[in-house]
Amino acid sequence: MATHRENILILDFGSQYTQLIARRVRELSVYCEIAPFHAAMEKIASAQPTGIILSGGPDSVCREGSPSLPREAFETGIPTLGICYGLQLMAQTLGGRVVPGGDRREFGKATVEVRDEDTLFRDLPAQFQKRFQAWMSHGDRVVELPPGFRVLAESGGGDDSILAAAADEGRKLWGLQFHPEVVHSLCGREVLENFLVRACGCRRDWTMSAFIESTVRQLAETIGSERTAICGLSGGVDSTVAALLVQKAIGDRLTCVFVDNGLLRKDEFRTVLEMYRENLKLKVVGVDAGERFLGKLRDVEEPERKRKIIGEEFIRVFEAQARELGNPPFLVQGTLYPDVIESTSVRGPSAVIKSHHNVGGLPRDVNFTLVEPLRELFKDEVRKVGEELGMDPRFVWRQPFPGPGLAVRILGAVTDERLAVLREADAILREELARAGLEREIWQAFAVLLPIRSVGVMGDDRTYENVAALRMVTSMDGMTADWARIPHEVMERISTRIVNEVRGINRVVYDVTSKPPGTIEWE
Ligand code: XMP
Repeated sequence: MATHRENILILDFGSQYTQLIARRVRELSVYCEIAPFHAAMEKIASAQPTGIILSGGPDSVCREGSPSLPREAFETGIPTLGICYGLQLMAQTLGGRVVPGGDRREFGKATVEVRDEDTLFRDLPAQFQKRFQAWMSHGDRVVELPPGFRVLAESGGGDDSILAAAADEGRKLWGLQFHPEVVHSLCGREVLENFLVRACGCRRDWTMSAFIESTVRQLAETIGSERTAICGLSGGVDSTVAALLVQKAIGDRLTCVFVDNGLLRKDEFRTVLEMYRENLKLKVVGVDAGERFLGKLRDVEEPERKRKIIGEEFIRVFEAQARELGNPPFLVQGTLYPDVIESTSVRGPSAVIKSHHNVGGLPRDVNFTLVEPLRELFKDEVRKVGEELGMDPRFVWRQPFPGPGLAVRILGAVTDERLAVLREADAILREELARAGLEREIWQAFAVLLPIRSVGVMGDDRTYENVAALRMVTSMDGMTADWARIPHEVMERISTRIVNEVRGINRVVYDVTSKPPGTIEWE
């Protein structure tokens, strides 16, 4: 897509941290892309990267047939940094020796002793100059370096130390046994920065304003000066930012569609629609289709059926709107870089359970050309773009909300009554979190209405009412999550208010399951 002057190519060997490497590089204002290791030579030729990073990986270079690179990949003259498996592969390919770890594995925190300051360790913060804590995760280790390489750092201490970093500056090759991308590597950021700036000579030109400028220019070219586009808004940050970028490029030839599926939170349709129109000046058709969705959902209890019905209904409603607008040739979507990577990942799409996340997706049999202006961005970058485009920070930092909405938070059949009860409980939860200033720390916080009733007592009367579960999680990207350690006073306020103010709920429980093994949503 964009032609960026600086571009780091990250070759993926299947590490769970590959995306994290990319995010760290982007945080240092350098553009980067991930490609599977087997596409290396092709990618190097087409992208002409400023630098190359080889990721870690779960395999062992000591195993026959493990992921590898042709020797020429190390002879391009492009500065290259191998991390963990990447270092081992570099060492083995160029004539060094790697052995299986046996009982000398390193997992977790280790102390790295710097032996040679070299490019990677230059000007580290004073407390890290001699030694620092780093994150290791390897069994195999390099016991002999290839000709031309020298040791930069070791871990493990004493006579039996393990290679932690090495370089052949002449050939512009560097390797780290530890993971600089992980926060537990205390000066990982500085080491990566040294690679990017000192080894690759990056000027760090990846900024969100540069992104906006080049994207808007390209969108204007792609869509042309007469054609129209349509965009389904979900109320979330991604679709909104995508729409704003396209709007900047083609103005009101973009029409957005925001559907009320009857499963949104309290006042959400009205307030979000107002914000779209008034603050962001988007041209939005608001479609009130609640009854249609709820009619189709009547008596449906099975979670996957609910999702399927909602997904199909959304497509019908959207198609009808597109027809009314004369079937615009372009469809704008808020696809992000993690989704793009996933489809070409060496680990394969099956490594991620995400099949159900297509609700609110695109009509399959309509002839749209897809426009995906956020395909290169991570979520935090989308938020920065949103802020640069003048979106209200409260909206930019909005928590993700699933396409099937409250239907997957009402266990069992969805009815008007149950929706009303859940909306009230959920609104109280969000209000109290905002009051406690905890919204940003929490990835998602919501209430779930359980299909059971329990006994309680209010005043002198016995009650027999619904149970609400509170789900609050911290997460980096929704793939893994932990339950949020909310101050007890805040929990208490939420619980007291829900039981006192929401007719139909007499008990509140807190979900303390992490993901995995749980999921964030209950259905
Ligand atoms: P789970 O429940 O799978 O959710 O741990 C991970 C993240 O995805 C959101 N989610 C969805 N988003 N359509 C969406 O657009 C869906 O069908 C859907 N299901 C789950 C969920 O809220 C969490 O952020």
